[in-house]
Amino acid sequence: MFATLLLNCLIYVVAMLGHVAICTIAMNRLQGSGIEHRWERVFKKFIYMAAFVGGVYPAIAWILYQPDQGGGGFWAPLRLVRSQVLGNVGYYTVASVVLVVTGMVRVLHLRRDHCESRWKLLRRRCIDVQAEVETDLVPDYSVVCWPRFSWNEVQKLEVNVKSILLERLPVALNGMTITHFSDLHLTGMLGKAYFEFLMEQVVSLNSDLVVVTGDIIDNPELLPWVEELFSMISVHENVYFVLGNHDIRNQSGDVVRQAMARARCIDLGGKSAIREVRGCQVLLSGNEQPWIGNAPDIPPIEADLRLGVVHTPDLFGWGQNHRFDLILAGHAHGGQVRVPFVGPIVTPSRYGVRYASGVFYQRDTILHVTRGISGLQPIRYRCLPELTQLLLESTPPLLPVTR
Ligand SMILES: [Fe+2]
Repeated sequence: MFATLLLNCLIYVVAMLGHVAICTIAMNRLQGSGIEHRWERVFKKFIYMAAFVGGVYPAIAWILYQPDQGGGGFWAPLRLVRSQVLGNVGYYTVASVVLVVTGMVRVLHLRRDHCESRWKLLRRRCIDVQAEVETDLVPDYSVVCWPRFSWNEVQKLEVNVKSILLERLPVALNGMTITHFSDLHLTGMLGKAYFEFLMEQVVSLNSDLVVVTGDIIDNPELLPWVEELFSMISVHENVYFVLGNHDIRNQSGDVVRQAMARARCIDLGGKSAIREVRGCQVLLSGNEQPWIGNAPDIPPIEADLRLGVVHTPDLFGWGQNHRFDLILAGHAHGGQVRVPFVGPIVTPSRYGVRYASGVFYQRDTILHVTRGISGLQPIRYRCLPELTQLLLESTPPLLPVTR
């Protein structure tokens, strides 16, 4: 009797988790689809509704059961789900299969995407920014109290250095550095002092190039911050940026570009640029699709380093097709909340959580996805805000330019 109850409970939990998996898969794909924001909101409501109905349906069925129909009683929801999973094929059968398959695919991707030989974490420093600045990082006018909770990591910052091995890197570029950060999401819920501290860290890294991969601002009232903050780091006019979907959500992308231009940052949205670094030609191409404009024209030159700058990691395939050595992306925020033993769950991507953050290698192209700095919702758990300096290195032995 007890064993049957335990089995029923287990089947019920698996089916419910499967239902959550189906809704999360739908949500991740929707948010990565590039659909217009107003339609995204409509479809999101459908998904929320489906999540609710699927979650409470067994309980509703229990309430609606009449004793003379049999199958009622307190454990009826468990029996209903079990009958679908083990007997009559129904929605919860599909949900259970989806959960199992999703888990298997995730393990497969983790093994396949593991490219430890292509990169190395050289240094990692976790900074409690609140302890470093004098002003309160959660402004008085903020109605959201989440940033104040001790488990929440939004007021912290991980500054790390990663070496990236690029086989085709010319000797002259060995040791070149790129600072990469993304997704500031200026909302006002996190005070300006946090972002000023961030910019000071960017300056102290003193890289050859600085690349910002979008979602700079959400609150149009904070547009003056954009110019003020980015003016702090663009002294050498080596800051390149693309915009993300949030940059055009509450204001036009043009006003953000103008603010960035006033701060002497270089716009790569739908464009390519060539920059000389250490006597070598570096091609930078920015792609803001699927939300903004067209893919850039790639000049037919044999650059010494081909760098793709995108908002979403979903453009990894585009980068591979155009033979980029390195693609820099943001957007996914590392999932923001990482469940122990499971990892990220919600990531706005057509590939789900596969490219939530980290380094990936496919077809001679490396993709670096940063966890980003902040988010529209001021919540982070086991997913620190990230500022990265990438140190480019040739795969030993050092080779001259081969193309
Ligand atoms: Fe973002």
